[in-house]
Amino acid sequence: MAILGEHKGAVEHPRRVAVIGAGYVGIPTALLLSHFGHQVVLAERDDYRRTTMQDGRSPIIEEDLEELLRSVLETQRLRIIGDAAEAVVNAEFVFLCVNTPMGIDGHADLSFIDAACAQIKDHLMPGAVVINKSTVPVGTTIRVAAAIGRSDVAVVSNPEFLREGTAVRDSFGPDRTVVGGDDQEVAATVGGLFALTGAPLVVTDAATAELIKYAANTFLTTKLSFINAMSQLCDALGANAVDLVRGIGHDPRIGFSFLNPGPGWGGPCLPKDSHALVAIAETVGEQIPLISAAIETNHRQQRHIVQRVRELAGGSLEGARIAVLGLTFKANTGDRRDSPALVITKLLREAGAEIAAYDPTVPVDATDDDVQGLNLCASVLDAARDARVLLILTEWNEFRELDFDVLGGVMEQRTVFDGRNILDLDIARSADFVAWGIGRS
Ligand code: UDX
Repeated sequence: MAILGEHKGAVEHPRRVAVIGAGYVGIPTALLLSHFGHQVVLAERDDYRRTTMQDGRSPIIEEDLEELLRSVLETQRLRIIGDAAEAVVNAEFVFLCVNTPMGIDGHADLSFIDAACAQIKDHLMPGAVVINKSTVPVGTTIRVAAAIGRSDVAVVSNPEFLREGTAVRDSFGPDRTVVGGDDQEVAATVGGLFALTGAPLVVTDAATAELIKYAANTFLTTKLSFINAMSQLCDALGANAVDLVRGIGHDPRIGFSFLNPGPGWGGPCLPKDSHALVAIAETVGEQIPLISAAIETNHRQQRHIVQRVRELAGGSLEGARIAVLGLTFKANTGDRRDSPALVITKLLREAGAEIAAYDPTVPVDATDDDVQGLNLCASVLDAARDARVLLILTEWNEFRELDFDVLGGVMEQRTVFDGRNILDLDIARSADFVAWGIGRS
């Protein structure tokens, strides 16, 4: 990993840092800071996560993470322990990286934040800075400060913008570092911990920093829902969504990134954060119909795909076997939280279809609730056997070059729906497949 060589132990003034929570945000944060030369204690309650990491293995599927973890463990600058209170005792900086799942009415559930505050408040050093990295509603910095209740401890917000699947790369090369707090000097000091990334530092007040995270994520959902709506229109008008993207993306005001139409946006962040922003606006008597429309467009996209698959299946899904390729919310992650693939398989099953699913990260004997009722397969070929439609829902690399002659030989009929626009449909067609994609038929 090239990144490792570039920054090895380079920081001039190592600081003592605690990170609470070894999840998708906490792990990269702890590894990045210890890699830069800071002394880091990572606190994680979950025995499996903690012991796995202590053994030099990553508890999550994430590119480059294990290599980075091993290299950092060797430096002895990272300690992984169970008790948050013990982790903060000598820490100058304490990052809260706990989960904030979607709670009632779309509001983020802050119970893990509250619990962390209760655990650490009496153990923080005078002068310590508590930094909220979890995605939290506007006002949470004040709530955390009140929960900690210490005039000798500062609290700031430092939203995280990394993506799953590229978490290490995004942490080492962020587009910007945002830190918000009442005391701008403290905020700038926190920003300094990340100076080696070379990213511009944006210092704001706490409320603005908190809102920036929601603004960034909901902007992305709006962009995706826009292009998904265009792809629906392409289907209705006989236009081609891939060419449409090429036709608008060259305009730098629009750009190509985050412009691929697909099965709708999912994952642990975008759905949760867009609902949360709508809920936040309501609490101050505001409405953001644009975001509500983006959410509705996302649901509509999933229903639209089910309708397209129904057409490919011959007009009815009753008793049709559908081979679903991909269950995670995107490729290069094992995460299925709010996965569009699972929403679509549920809708297909409600319409009477039988699902044979293959995902490289889901073993055939998986018993998790979200895959109940699916016939889990060990390969693309197994899933395709006797299937009426082959349906790609996650853009795993191994789905990009399918052998359509072989697949056609085992399927009930030769039809494929590419829900990620990763196929050259002409290749499938040359093997006598009826092949459609998102906004392409
Ligand atoms: C997102 C934000 O990108 C990140 O900045 C924030 O910190 C956390 O939330 P992540 O949840 O890892 O990151 O997923 P992301 O890569 O943004 O993808 C979100 C969803 O949009 C996925 O379902 C993905 O498949 C979909 N997507 C993305 C598309 O359908 N088309 C695209 O062009 C890009």
